[in-house]
Amino acid sequence: MKTLEIPYELTVGIADGGGRGHAYANACRRSRLAKKILGFKGGDGWSEGPEDKIVQCFSNIDAADVDKIIVESLNQRVQLLIAGQEIFLANGGADKARDAGMKVLGCSRAAARLESSKVWAKWFFAKYGIPTANFETANSPEEATAIVDYWFLIKKVAALVVKADGLAEGKGVISCFSLAEARAAIRETMVAGPVKKTYPEAGKKVVIEEWIGGPGTREMSSTYFSDGDDLVEMIVGVDHKRRFAEDGKVDEKDNRNTGGMGLYAPDPEYTDDIRRQVRRIAKKIIAGMQKEACPFQGILYLGLMIRNGKVYVLEVNVRFGAPEAQGILALLESDFLELAWAAATGQLALVKPKWKKGKVSVTVTLVTGVYPSPITAEYKGFEITGIEEARALGVEILHAGTKLKDGKFVNNGGRVIDIVAVADTFREAIDLANKAAELIYWQDRDYRKDIGRRALAFAA
Ligand code: AMP
Ligand code: GLY
Repeated sequence: MKTLEIPYELTVGIADGGGRGHAYANACRRSRLAKKILGFKGGDGWSEGPEDKIVQCFSNIDAADVDKIIVESLNQRVQLLIAGQEIFLANGGADKARDAGMKVLGCSRAAARLESSKVWAKWFFAKYGIPTANFETANSPEEATAIVDYWFLIKKVAALVVKADGLAEGKGVISCFSLAEARAAIRETMVAGPVKKTYPEAGKKVVIEEWIGGPGTREMSSTYFSDGDDLVEMIVGVDHKRRFAEDGKVDEKDNRNTGGMGLYAPDPEYTDDIRRQVRRIAKKIIAGMQKEACPFQGILYLGLMIRNGKVYVLEVNVRFGAPEAQGILALLESDFLELAWAAATGQLALVKPKWKKGKVSVTVTLVTGVYPSPITAEYKGFEITGIEEARALGVEILHAGTKLKDGKFVNNGGRVIDIVAVADTFREAIDLANKAAELIYWQDRDYRKDIGRRALAFAA
């Protein structure tokens, strides 16, 4: 039997600046294969983790700065580059790194269109028979308005979704429950408003699609490593996208979507039937991308909605989710770099990840109160206390948006710290994560206290 070919003593670069990148860094630290770990830009808090291997961060190099990352990676003799943030891939980072001789866990710019253009992704789904919400696309506010008028007034839909075409960090999607809301969403995305202001390019085109939600629906995501041919599925976790608990006490309009407020894994509701449907979808995507002459090598994240037992693809991301990476890598028993290297070098058929037996994880994300609104200067820079006390409980603390100021950590973004608790039961993991969350504080810190509650009804 063939065995995996992999160099010992790897130098690994991570193009990410948040909690997902820190989770990668720690997974590399736990690997027997890592010699040196570099973060672009990483974070001040990445030095916190298993002690034996040092992480060096380049705080002046952002994940979007592809050329700078390539130059520094060559200087440092990086052998494997892990793409964390989608912007690195959308900017052609994987192509350039491969041209420069590195192995990359991340797809080409052409393949990254699955995430960087929702219009392209929808076209691809339609062409390759991938189940998705019905949709139309529009190139101007006038065209988009005509579509939503038709959908609400003639087709009599109860709701629809307006999505900016380009990258908007999860903030370019607006669910609309009336014509007035839909027109406002188009204005906000395409003409003037917070989305247009922060992501001026993203809303040049929009997708208008059927709203799939309400009773009988459930959102989940599944993540695959792909080497272009073969696929390996990660454990499936359940993210909590809404800013507040969905207990009916919060006005639907105030309860906006976020990048993710927390996760539990594995998903006890992930049945064999759903797994088969999702695998079929993943295989169709891999085969379709080969046909489009942009084979998909990297991490494929499927954002899914399940309606009455049938799986629909809401979005594809071309990188691990956050907090998915945090909560899922914590359950990986086997060597992360074996998996990453195998995916980056076409050897995925030779590895089978092992997961911690009988363990579950709960990840709680601590945020600055106004998140997901932009975190302007007046909300940043508050000292964070209690990190050490929380860590002493035995949880993994990942820095998503902190920085060091005068030797102390301060908050520096919306999602600030991820707390990952691993335990034998969801009850224990929930209690542990929340206990740790309570210990960490800064002015205005907030978190969802219901992460994982749903899992209690289904499993240990
Ligand atoms: P996307 O970036 O396309 O996944 O959208 C972000 C979030 O918006 C998803 O995670 C869902 O919660 C929600 N969403 C997206 N598309 C739809 C849809 N067609 N119906 C209902 N909710 C949706
Ligand atoms: N947690 C979802 C994402 O990273 O897109």
